[in-house]
Amino acid sequence: MANIKFFFGDDVPLEMHKVRIVQKLNLPNVDERLTYIRGAGNNTFLLNNRDVFMDMLTDSGVNAMSDQQLAAMMVADDSYAGSETFTRLQKKLQEIFGMEYFLPAHQGRAAENIISQTFVTPGSIVPMNFHFTTTKSHIVLNGGRVEEIVIPEGLVIESDHPFKGNTDIPRLRALIEENGADKIAYVRLEAGTNLIGGQPFSLENMRQVREVCNEFGVLLVLDASLLADNLYFIKEREAQCKDMSIREITMEMARLSHIIYFSARKLGCARGGGICTDDYGLYMKMRELIPLYEGFLTYGGMSVREMEAMTVGLEETMDEDMISQGPIFIEYMVNELKRRGVPVVTPAGGLGCHLNAMKFLSHVPQNEYPAGALASAVYIISGVRGMERGTMSEQRDENGVEPMSEMELLRLAMPRRVFTLSQVKYAIDRIHWLYQNRELVGGLKFVEEPRILRFFFGRLAPTSDWQEKLVAKYKADFGDSL
Ligand code: F0G
Repeated sequence: MANIKFFFGDDVPLEMHKVRIVQKLNLPNVDERLTYIRGAGNNTFLLNNRDVFMDMLTDSGVNAMSDQQLAAMMVADDSYAGSETFTRLQKKLQEIFGMEYFLPAHQGRAAENIISQTFVTPGSIVPMNFHFTTTKSHIVLNGGRVEEIVIPEGLVIESDHPFKGNTDIPRLRALIEENGADKIAYVRLEAGTNLIGGQPFSLENMRQVREVCNEFGVLLVLDASLLADNLYFIKEREAQCKDMSIREITMEMARLSHIIYFSARKLGCARGGGICTDDYGLYMKMRELIPLYEGFLTYGGMSVREMEAMTVGLEETMDEDMISQGPIFIEYMVNELKRRGVPVVTPAGGLGCHLNAMKFLSHVPQNEYPAGALASAVYIISGVRGMERGTMSEQRDENGVEPMSEMELLRLAMPRRVFTLSQVKYAIDRIHWLYQNRELVGGLKFVEEPRILRFFFGRLAPTSDWQEKLVAKYKADFGDSL
């Protein structure tokens, strides 16, 4: 956000855009909300968007597009091979990352499939600051294993560390020394570390990771899906980068990476994804899988309109006014909830506001999914849809044992440029009320549990009649208000 001070000293995030296309919203009443969440098996992924007031499930594919993006979509060049649109996208990626080669893929996890199939072998290890659900599944599917080496501070929920997504360098070195460099498929860095609250890493830390990679001859892969947030935080929080432009920081991060992949559902506010590299050998290793899984090399499963939108969206990502909107709205929400005593992940990160369900619902045991129960309760009392990021999002091991997640978070994503401040204030108000009535919320149990990525389709039931009690208290306090 531009440096704009308010005369009365209010700390209000100010939008540097105006809204020109709107979508009508619907807020069902609390009885209807209870019916809908039950119909969805208490899984917010299974709700119909029609029944959701504020969709804070994710920022994936739901960020607002700019007028320039929409305009660009109208002049797309549709062809199977050699599309002009693809050439424009490739040129933009070459410009911002300084990498020669680009492989298109239909979204981020498709890029993960290509990279995992190419580099992960049975018994190999992929050290990373922190895993993402689809990332880990692809690595495990190819016989590999994930080792998380985020700094200990990364797992401290309430902290003031500016870069909780940093890699623990001594642990990275020790891991490679213990296992041997030939066992390491590659090192993966996730910008804007998703599952620990959208927490960034510093450019300095990335440099150190790359030095270790150089020392052992190991590849460094950057997941740039949440790069926009991480760029903003480097610029804001890393003293040595104050005078660098967003473009320079981006270029430096790319220079430190052998491979960059991303979900364009996040980066560039479009849809699609892809893989960039400056190494011809690496490009050739991955290239043959693109036509097999994605589509021909000049579209990779994406529509030309999306590629045009992505080209413009990537350019707009170089604008600090644009990439600051998410983080400053999130910071506002985090600070206001904190002020009301609600446990949240701090410092505010990118991606969204994260409620600490382990503390919010400290009376709900972890095997009754506190973050999942909180997701269900928040929907019932507000129509706000968040996403469980805790034990439900973990996968049972080969013996059927359920690993308990290190954190139980309810993620309330902040799609970029989508919500107004009054809507955010509504969400804060209802969550505050729920916190004061938290003892009414109970646990959940699976009634249908898929084997892979169970959080997407799994169905759960409450462990008691807590939901009826919560609705009764809501009606007592709010009367006939929706
Ligand atoms: N990497 C990160 C860091 C992500 O956040 C995601 C998606 C992916 C990879 C996979 O990309 O969805 O395009 O296939 N995150 C979404 C989310 C699903 O809601 O956080 P995708």
